[in-house]
Amino acid sequence: MIRFHIYFLIFNTLLFTASIYAQYSSTARYAHASILIDSKLYFIGGFDSSGKMKSDFFYLDLSIQFSSNDVLKFIQINNNDLTPNAWCNAATTNNIIYLLGCFMINDNSSLIYQYSISSNKWSIPSISGTPSPAHRIKNGVSIDHSTGRIYYFGGEDDANKLLNDMWILYNINNNQLSWQQLTPALQPSCCSSAVLLPDGYILYIGGRNNDPNNDPMRMNNITRYNTISNTWDFVKTTGVAQFYRLGFSAVLVPDGRIIVYGGMFPGVQLPSNDLNVLNTTTYEWMIPEVRNKQDTKSFHTANLYDNYMIVAFGIGTDNTPSSEILLLDITDITMYKWIPDFIPTSNSSNGNNENNGKKNVSKIIGAVIGSVVGIVSICLLSFFGYKFYKKRNNKQEISRNVIDNF
Ligand SMILES: *[C@@H]1O[C@H](CO)[C@@H](O)[C@H](O)[C@H]1NC(C)=O
Ligand SMILES: *[C@@H]1O[C@H](CO)[C@@H](O)[C@H](O)[C@H]1NC(C)=O
Ligand SMILES: *[C@@H]1O[C@H](CO)[C@@H](O)[C@H](O)[C@H]1NC(C)=O
Ligand SMILES: *[C@@H]1O[C@H](CO)[C@@H](O)[C@H](O)[C@H]1NC(C)=O
Repeated sequence: MIRFHIYFLIFNTLLFTASIYAQYSSTARYAHASILIDSKLYFIGGFDSSGKMKSDFFYLDLSIQFSSNDVLKFIQINNNDLTPNAWCNAATTNNIIYLLGCFMINDNSSLIYQYSISSNKWSIPSISGTPSPAHRIKNGVSIDHSTGRIYYFGGEDDANKLLNDMWILYNINNNQLSWQQLTPALQPSCCSSAVLLPDGYILYIGGRNNDPNNDPMRMNNITRYNTISNTWDFVKTTGVAQFYRLGFSAVLVPDGRIIVYGGMFPGVQLPSNDLNVLNTTTYEWMIPEVRNKQDTKSFHTANLYDNYMIVAFGIGTDNTPSSEILLLDITDITMYKWIPDFIPTSNSSNGNNENNGKKNVSKIIGAVIGSVVGIVSICLLSFFGYKFYKKRNNKQEISRNVIDNF
């Protein structure tokens, strides 16, 4: 009898472990969320190849060497029946993953979902503070890791109206989250890429406002929020960048570069100049030299880890969702290189991402921004459906229009 119990226990333990950590291969998708915590790169939801929303939850272990040409060893995690979702923004603090601004057709009841790494559970947090923001998607989300404050800006409400309100979500005490409203932006917008800089500015790159032609906002006039003075302005950039893009990603490198990658001009994949780099000291754009160019992705995610920018999934130029992981070596600021092999150089698997020293913190900041950004411009895809069909026939004309020389 005792033996039976022991076998039963062992069997159940194995079953439990297997169900939490099963290896996972069903990964082709776009408009998913991703977030880096220590050396695990987590992925959540998105649309699969048939356009269905997914609710799966899995990670890639970055403490292990891999080649992007191999079959990747994704590890699936229990999703506790999380609602199928797309276009979520992910942010993390204190070993909790927050999902904000999710598209979940049948369930708009919560603004936020959270996952606790330590208890391995998804839940809906209780949030105090009145008023609280309206339900929305396609908003800008960024987190200040020094304070744990999540900045929650704009987006599109459930009636498709663009919003200009700005909020913070913060921990008032004992893990009790609360909303507080800040100064609204000068104009409503959605779908931009939010990047928090060390000087306290949040840049909302690209996106869409109430432009009567539905044109996306140009990359050379960036909406900017000052977290210290609680004020807004526009910052004009110099240099050469693509005019506008949809479904791109933007990651901040600790040296002050923002790497904008991929996306499409309404309906047309960007064929060659898919990397633009913004110097956040001078606000100057440049188009760097790139080696081993890969198929350009849109509606992917991008995360920074060590000297790699890790691009995951998204839509390829063949217009189908991809299961690829691409690796960009960002070490040389004059020459970026797509490479097949990921070789871990750092040790950061000790559980807590807040107290691991400066290098790790900047890595995480880059990662958060990366995950947030790949997703936020996705809404523009549907918005520009008309233009897509109209313009895809004349790619050359588009390419000419896309480049902004000034
Ligand atoms: C939830 O919001 C989305 C847009 O964000 C909307 O399309 C959908 O109809 C809403 N669902 C309900 C049940 O209100
Ligand atoms: C930037 O965009 C805003 C909003 O569309 C506009 O009011 C402002 O004039 C623009 N600034 C420049 C320098 O183009
Ligand atoms: C940004 O530009 C300044 C001034 O030219 C330069 O000193 C700095 O190194 C640049 N930063 C990056 C990351 O290229
Ligand atoms: C990582 O840490 C372990 C133990 O602390 C050490 O043995 C190993 O050499 C480290 N690896 C790297 C790449 O630093």
